[in-house]
Amino acid sequence: MPKSDQWTSKLGFILAAAGSAIGLGAIWKLPYVAGTSGGGAFFLIFLIFTIFLGLPLLLTEFTIGRKTQHEAITAYRMLAPGTPWYWIGRLGVATSFLLLSFYSVVGGWIVIYLYRSLTEGLAGRGAPEFEALFGETISSPLLAVGAHLVFMIMTILVVQGGVQKGIERFSKIMMPALFVLFLIIVIRSVTLPGAMEGVSFFLMPDFSSVTGEVILYALGQAFFSLSLGVSIMVTYSSYLKSTESLPKSAVSITGLTIFISILAGLAIFPAVFSFGLEPAEGPPLLFIVLPTVFSELPLGGLFFIAFMALLLFATLTSAFSLLEMVVASVTKNDPAKRKKAAWICGLLIFVMGIPSALSYGAMENVLIFGNTVFDGLDFLVSNVMLPLGALLIAVFAPLKIKKDELYEEMQRGSTMRRTIFNIWFVLVKYVTPVAIVLAFINMLVSDV
Ligand code: PHE
Repeated sequence: MPKSDQWTSKLGFILAAAGSAIGLGAIWKLPYVAGTSGGGAFFLIFLIFTIFLGLPLLLTEFTIGRKTQHEAITAYRMLAPGTPWYWIGRLGVATSFLLLSFYSVVGGWIVIYLYRSLTEGLAGRGAPEFEALFGETISSPLLAVGAHLVFMIMTILVVQGGVQKGIERFSKIMMPALFVLFLIIVIRSVTLPGAMEGVSFFLMPDFSSVTGEVILYALGQAFFSLSLGVSIMVTYSSYLKSTESLPKSAVSITGLTIFISILAGLAIFPAVFSFGLEPAEGPPLLFIVLPTVFSELPLGGLFFIAFMALLLFATLTSAFSLLEMVVASVTKNDPAKRKKAAWICGLLIFVMGIPSALSYGAMENVLIFGNTVFDGLDFLVSNVMLPLGALLIAVFAPLKIKKDELYEEMQRGSTMRRTIFNIWFVLVKYVTPVAIVLAFINMLVSDV
C-alpha cells in the first residue's frame, strides 16, 4: 500500500487543518444557531464543549492519523485488525459526503454574492434591500443549483491535484488575511449605534433559553467547527512527519477556531441589534447582516468584495478536507486514481446537494419531519452523525491503543507532560462519551 503524501512544512499542516476547521461553521453557522438558540448561553456551552471535548478529540484524531500514516479507514483497520471498528472511517466518509452536499450550497451563495458585488456593487443599500436580495438570489433554482455546481467544481479542481500543491498553497495566504478583515468588521460593528445590546446578547448568558435541544446543538456545533467526528483530522495528520508537536497543533487550531467564532459573533450580533434585525433569522443571517455592515464603512463595496473572496477561500479549504476524506478513502492514496475519483465523488455530492440547493426556492414546501431538506440534512449531520462519530472515536482510542503507545505518539516532537496526558485520557475515555450520551438522552427526553 503506498504511503501518504507528506506536507511540505509544519506550517502547511497547521494551516490546512485550521483551514478545514475554520469555515462556515464558525463564521456562518455559529452566529445563526446562536441567534435561534438564545445567544450567550449557547455560546458559553459551545465554548465549554469545544475546550473539554473538542480539543482532546482533535488530539486523538491527530494521534491516530500520525501513528498509522494512513487514511482513516485503513488507520482503524491497522489498529484493530479483524474487527468492525473501521466502520468509524466509513461513517466519517458518509458524513463527509452528506455534509459537503449542503455545505457546497452555502458555498454557492457566497459565489453568487461575490459575483454580484463585483458586477453591480452592493453599496448604498440597507438591511431590507439585502433581505430581499438574499431571497431573490437563492430562490432562483437555476442560480442556486448553478452556483452550487461552480463551488463543487472549484473544490474538485484543487483536490484532484493532491495534498501539498492544492490545499497547502491556498491556506498560507488566505487565513491571515481573513483575520485582519474580520477585525475591521468587528470594529465597525461594535461602534454602530445601539451595538451594545448585541454584544450582551452574544456574551451574556441567559440560561432561561437552554433546552435539551440547545445543548445538543452546542455539542454538534463544537464538533462541526473543529471538523471532528468524521476522521478528517486522522486523514490529514496521516500526511504528517513525526517531528511536529501534536498537542501544540491541536491547541493552536482550537484557539484559532474559538477566536474566529468570537470575531464572527462580534461582527454579526451588534449589527443585528443596531439595524433592528431578528437574531433568529436562521441560515440567511450572515448574508443579510454583513453586507449591511459593509455599506456603513468607507470603501465598504471594496471591503465587501475582499471579505466575500476570503470567506469563499475559508469555505473552500473546509470543502477540500471533506472531499479529500471521501477521495482518500476511495483511492487509498493511490495517486493514479485521484483525479478520476475526485471528479466522480465530487459530482455525486453535487447531485446529492441539489434538493438542499432548492430548499429555499422550488422545494421550500417539501418537508421531512417538518424541516426542509437543507435543515433536515444539517440536523442529521451536525447533531446526530458528528456526535456519534465523535463518541465512537473517543471510545475507540483508549480501548484499542495501549495507553503507553498513545503517550509515546503524542510525545513525539513535543514534550507533553504526563499530567496533561492523564487529563487528556480522562477527558476522552470518560467525560466525552458520557457527555455525548447524556446530550442525546436529554434531547430525546426533553423533546417528548
Ligand atoms: N469545520 C468546518 C467548518 O467549520 C466544517 C467541517 C465539518 C469540515 C466537519 C470538515 C468536517 O466550516
